[in-house]
Amino acid sequence: MRSLCSRPVEALKGDISIPGDKSISHRALILSASAVGETRISGLLEGEDVLATAAALRCLGAGVERGGDGVWHVHGRGVGGFDEPAAVLEMGNSGTAARLLIGLVASHPFTSFFSGDASLRARPMKRIIEPLAQFGAAFETREGDRLPLAVRGARNPIPIAYTLPVASAQVKSAILLAALNTPGLTTVVEAQPTRDHSELMLRHFGAKVTVESAPGGGRVITLAGHPEIAGKDVAVPGDPSSAAFPVVAALLVAGSRLTVRGVGVNPLRAGLLDCLREMGAGLTLTEARQVGGEPVADLTVEAGPLKGVDVPAERAPTMIDEYPVLAVAAACADGVSRMHGLGELRVKESDRLRAIADGLTRAGVKVEIDADTLIVHGRGRPPLGGCAIETNLDHRIAMAFLVFGMAATEPVVIDDAGPIDTSFPGFVALMNGLGARIGDETS
Ligand code: S3P
Repeated sequence: MRSLCSRPVEALKGDISIPGDKSISHRALILSASAVGETRISGLLEGEDVLATAAALRCLGAGVERGGDGVWHVHGRGVGGFDEPAAVLEMGNSGTAARLLIGLVASHPFTSFFSGDASLRARPMKRIIEPLAQFGAAFETREGDRLPLAVRGARNPIPIAYTLPVASAQVKSAILLAALNTPGLTTVVEAQPTRDHSELMLRHFGAKVTVESAPGGGRVITLAGHPEIAGKDVAVPGDPSSAAFPVVAALLVAGSRLTVRGVGVNPLRAGLLDCLREMGAGLTLTEARQVGGEPVADLTVEAGPLKGVDVPAERAPTMIDEYPVLAVAAACADGVSRMHGLGELRVKESDRLRAIADGLTRAGVKVEIDADTLIVHGRGRPPLGGCAIETNLDHRIAMAFLVFGMAATEPVVIDDAGPIDTSFPGFVALMNGLGARIGDETS
């Protein structure tokens, strides 16, 4: 374990770009491996989570080679063309890698074994097992439907119509990937729209996906199985979930001004920006454009006072990974913030609802959890800090509390910075380049 200390700073200034989007990077690899021919991916996130997907696809028989910085070449097997993996597929810390790849192999006539780190082995898999079993796949799992698990893929997969019981893009995507090697039409209904990167990228590769509105704001997504998908170059935009850390840091540290270039602004990922605007943040989006079929812009933020915010439950799917850092902003804001509908945070890389509440409490902030609502009492001045935080294999808890340390009056120490490399390699160097003071406790 590598502990790190984040000290209060004067101002953060700079003009940066951010590593590639993690969700889109997984999908770019999986779909290019499922296409016929070669794909060149640029801007791929080279974090451990995405590298786990790349390694698994190699075990399934795809050619996946690194060409240079963020540039990868994939030789696809064509839909239904994967081989039985000869080894256990190790997913590391990545729920997305595990759930999407289990979906992919669930409609292939062979057996695969999946495992992961202690965090991933504690996460629920029933949510994908239930729909994938309807395709005809069979599962053996550890107690509580957890990894390690074995999946015996369906020999003759049957298309399904499935309504998501939880708002989860991973579950939706697992079903759509299983549907690729399944004849006929598979339909997923989601009551609350979740990130649509799978739908956009399936279309980019030439699959037939239709999306219709469902009553009450939901969506009905239909994929025609056995599409002829062909290799096609993909450019991955910057990850808004990673950008969130320097952006919030710059809003909180007086005198800061920061521009982040080429950030994804897909509306199904942009809930944090809505919250920050409602808190009174100075942020502007310029140079709106498309990268790889996804909306992208440059984002400039300037530090200034923030006020408390009430975040409705319906917004949760559009910012599900941003609550740790939003809670840090709320702790520095003036007034009470209430974030509703956070049940899913309990089953992320760690129990994030608990981790946020415990960490902020230790740092001298008043926090309450009322069922699935997080209540943070901000006092409009820098909180105390001066505490040690357990990251529990959770990259976003680690980064959120390093940001907290920049805005607090006393340093904040995290016990383990290792998990940051799962999603944001280079985070510490990038932040220190802006003026942050993250280093060893003794430095
Ligand atoms: C992701 C979906 C979200 C998110 C995760 C990435 C994806 O998870 O938390 O970091 O790429 O589909 P859920 O689908 O479990 O909400």
